[in-house]
Amino acid sequence: MRRPGPRSSREVATLLAGRCRALREALRVAVAAPNSRLRTLADEWSLAACGGEAEFAEAMAQTIAYGLWTDRLEHPEAAPEVAGACARLGETPGPLLRALRAAAEHRAEIGAALGELEATIARLDAASLAALREGEGAYFYEEFLAAYDGRLRREAGAYYTPKEVVHAQIVAVRELLTRELGAPLGFAAPEVVVIDPSCGTGVYPLAIVEDALRRVRGTGGDVAACASRLGENLVAHEVLAGPFAAAHARLSRALRAAGARLPAAGVRVMQRDTLARAEGEDVEAARIRVCIGNPPYDRRELTESDRGGWIRHGDPERGERPLLADFLPDAAVGKHAKNLYNAYVYFWRWALWWSCEQTGPGVVCLITPSSYLRGPGFAAMRRRLRAVLDALWIVDLGGDALGPRRSANVFKNIRTPVCIAVGVRRGEGDLSRPAEVWYTRLADDDSSEQAARAGGAAIIAGARVGARAERVGGAAGARGVGRLR
Ligand SMILES: C[S@@+](CC[C@H](N)C(=O)[O-])C[C@H]1O[C@@H](n2cnc3c(N)ncnc32)[C@H](O)[C@@H]1O
Repeated sequence: MRRPGPRSSREVATLLAGRCRALREALRVAVAAPNSRLRTLADEWSLAACGGEAEFAEAMAQTIAYGLWTDRLEHPEAAPEVAGACARLGETPGPLLRALRAAAEHRAEIGAALGELEATIARLDAASLAALREGEGAYFYEEFLAAYDGRLRREAGAYYTPKEVVHAQIVAVRELLTRELGAPLGFAAPEVVVIDPSCGTGVYPLAIVEDALRRVRGTGGDVAACASRLGENLVAHEVLAGPFAAAHARLSRALRAAGARLPAAGVRVMQRDTLARAEGEDVEAARIRVCIGNPPYDRRELTESDRGGWIRHGDPERGERPLLADFLPDAAVGKHAKNLYNAYVYFWRWALWWSCEQTGPGVVCLITPSSYLRGPGFAAMRRRLRAVLDALWIVDLGGDALGPRRSANVFKNIRTPVCIAVGVRRGEGDLSRPAEVWYTRLADDDSSEQAARAGGAAIIAGARVGARAERVGGAAGARGVGRLR
């Protein structure tokens, strides 16, 4: 009798993770063999992004697994095997097609492990496929990573954002673009350039495309032209190979479906460490820069100096100082400096620099731990935010699972309190004039969904009219209620 397939998304994730680890191992062995054709590929690819043999095996295994299961979801009638999946992916160039093609061409070197993965995916029944489809596949990747390599997932901080939160952030930014920065088309405006610095499987870029296309349809504009423009104006970074390939493929597909002509080099989803030195910055000065997303969080010891890249260390050879220095506390409160050595703080520094410290206007909107709102260790960070930005709205979502004031967290697996912050810099800026800041905290008994449903427009409007919101400080730096000073 045939055993029933796995039912929950966790069971499916565990099953696929086991097959993917076996494939990774097979790839490692293959590239170590003399005369391996895959080895030649590893040499070529590692120059581009992977790093070394182990990273190549890692990237290939995750990408092939993702490619096969999305192919099964999209073409349940077809046998999920790499050659067919390549044909069905057709003309969508990118890392997914590249990995699947390599697997098909060099199948002889990894055949057994690849065959096992294909067979496992082929055997998934309707209930398993439904589990796989949970959250349109984007959120399944989080479960898959947890089962595949918990350490990798924790180190990368790969926790994906509920769609209600993404929506709230998108509405908040769109409102700022239309009301304050003279871009009535919001994300669809040609002068708006957007970056998600840690895109995971592409939840934010996809939601931005949806929002922009809806706006263009609503105004009777040219949808295909807008989609083509988004192919140029929407940038995303992701450090892990699997989510990167997923984001690349999903964004390419969404834009093509809207009739886009994509740039010759494909969509601008890049596998890279955002905190490394920025090369090839090519955003025109006249544009409005938007940085939006959910960066990774962790708390690293001071000694772990390999983290934080260019933001933390600068580039001594080029005489570039670390931008993080602007967030470091004064000597008097130096003992609190360790709190700053957290990936989310590095990303905040990067986001502020990228979006609002260049010429022209900018918007920054991040969901991160809320620890920076309080305490002497973060005073310099708050000062810098207020100096660079003209206005800043903060929605404190609570979410403390451990302290005396406990409340639900919008993230399923996170116990750290979080907040959404939306900041705008209208033009050239005046560093001596601190931003106006509005702060609102959701009631502790608000559920995660209620918190998320607060919505972006409400974030800004609610904070302005003062519903459960406090205005903190003032344009002239008047004394406020003590937060974000
Ligand atoms: C909290 S998750 C958010 C993912 C996605 N934006 C979402 O909301 O669903 C953070 C993501 O950042 C990626 N990441 C971690 N460090 C990074 C780095 N230095 N550069 C680029 N991406 C990074 C992780 O792999 C992970 O996918």
